[in-house]
Amino acid sequence: MAIPPEVTALHQEKAQIGSTDYGTTASGEAALVFTLTNTNGMTAEITNYGGTIISLTAPDSEGKFENIVLGYETLVDYEVGTSYLGALIGRFGNRIAGGSFDLDGETYTLPVNDGPNHLHGGDRGFDKVVWEAEPFITDDGPGLCLKYTSADGEEGYPGTLTVKVCYTLTNDNELRIDYKAVTDKATPVNLTSHGYFNLSGNPGQDILGHHLSIAADSFTPVDSNLIPTGELCPVDDSPFDFRFIRPVGEGVNADNEQITFAGGYDHNWVFDQHADGQMGHMATLSDPESGRVLEVHSTEPGMQFYTGNFLGAAVGDKGVIHENKHGLCLETQHFPDSPNQSSFPSTILRPGEVYSTQTVYSFFTA
Ligand code: GLA
Repeated sequence: MAIPPEVTALHQEKAQIGSTDYGTTASGEAALVFTLTNTNGMTAEITNYGGTIISLTAPDSEGKFENIVLGYETLVDYEVGTSYLGALIGRFGNRIAGGSFDLDGETYTLPVNDGPNHLHGGDRGFDKVVWEAEPFITDDGPGLCLKYTSADGEEGYPGTLTVKVCYTLTNDNELRIDYKAVTDKATPVNLTSHGYFNLSGNPGQDILGHHLSIAADSFTPVDSNLIPTGELCPVDDSPFDFRFIRPVGEGVNADNEQITFAGGYDHNWVFDQHADGQMGHMATLSDPESGRVLEVHSTEPGMQFYTGNFLGAAVGDKGVIHENKHGLCLETQHFPDSPNQSSFPSTILRPGEVYSTQTVYSFFTA
């Protein structure tokens, strides 16, 4: 979608929110796009279809605002798209081995949509439904709350899950995401946001020259179907060591079994210090050319760093082709396949409990 010139102006006197029609889904539901503008002129276009971030603009070191996430052109593109561009992911982010798990003595079977495994909530995950939308403006900045009620048995999961996700585009140039959910039966829950960042502002260019640091000493290695083996592997002396900032391209093609399994990075890093639900620094991403920097903070214990290895050659917004590795994801989350891995932090939400996590993406220049 084109961003109207008036919202890309360097300075806005006030934060704003506008909404426009985004068409009708194949199942006949109307979708909207909300444009959030903060006082610095940063914008986020978010549709209530899949709770998807269509575009997010941020200034480069010369003050030039450009879109720094991959997006498609139309609603139909999002409906048929298989890369989860910018979408909210649920009921369970990432894979559940064999599409099955046991909980309280019952075995649950979920659709398999990624080889032998269940991925990102199944055939019709939260990225493919229309959410109820409520825009708001506070002193922090403009925002949008999205609500979705996932029925008992939807995509095989137990319990009616009521989910509320609030985006705030703060006047400090942060995109804050607050996730909340309650259930009436015990169920696994793992919500995340699947934005593909490309800080260059040019989605036709790869992200291998971006620099990244990840504040984690270990990651969860996977088997050839990208299911965690259950171990926590130290990052020392490996392409997984991002404790000091380094170019993404340095290790992305390394002669390493884990890299080969995934065709690049597609792994979960482990943040012990967040075990108590406190907000912690996870990652810093920068693009030396544009000077744009992104910092990720979250209450989550894990983050999937994915280098867009399966993007294919999809046609994106304005006809730009997204090849593999033209965007990278920093998906804050609990660990993949947790319902089958008793040593991982639990992802089971029970009646009476409130699922509550927060992730903040902060943008600045260096
Ligand atoms: C996640 C997964 C990847 C891939 C993408 C979507 O990041 O870990 O393997 O499925 O989502 O294409």
